[in-house]
Amino acid sequence: MKHAALFLVGLIIGAVGAVIVANALRARDAYARGAMDVMQHHYGSLRENLRAKRCDAHKTALALSQLRALGNEIEPAVYPDSTPESSFREFSSRLRDALDAGIAAAPADCAALAPVVEKVGKVCEECHQQYR
Ligand code: HEC
Repeated sequence: MKHAALFLVGLIIGAVGAVIVANALRARDAYARGAMDVMQHHYGSLRENLRAKRCDAHKTALALSQLRALGNEIEPAVYPDSTPESSFREFSSRLRDALDAGIAAAPADCAALAPVVEKVGKVCEECHQQYR
């Protein structure tokens, strides 16, 4: 009986400890995941507009500028306490370059938007292959 009670207490302490560790890990990654999720939202809306063949120039410009602003957040969000290694910085800056070029091109229709979205999506994928 005594052993069963001790075993139970051990289980509970272990479970509580696991939850604390899991929460700490989640909190540490929360900003990175949040920034990525917002990027996914804007990137997804551009893809959806392409699919629906409704590429409003103003909405496109807004989504691209939101993505561009978040492009500045990738490094501090994923590496809050250190400088990311050079290839990670390279992917981040390639994303910013692709977005700068896309914003400069000011795509007014789907035909102009498609290559911009493709280029941006490729950088997302390349970085994810290595770091996600
Ligand atoms: C420089 C590298 C890099 C680039 C570029 C990048 N990502 Fe990420 N992404 C990551 C990393 C690292 C994670 C994992 C973050 C974590 O779980 O802490 C991630 C995770 C994600 C996730 C999952 C988030 C979650 O809730 O778990 C989504 C969605 C995402 N990225 C979307 C995008 C989109 C869309 C783009 C391009 C517009 C993009 N990412 C560009 C590095 C990058």
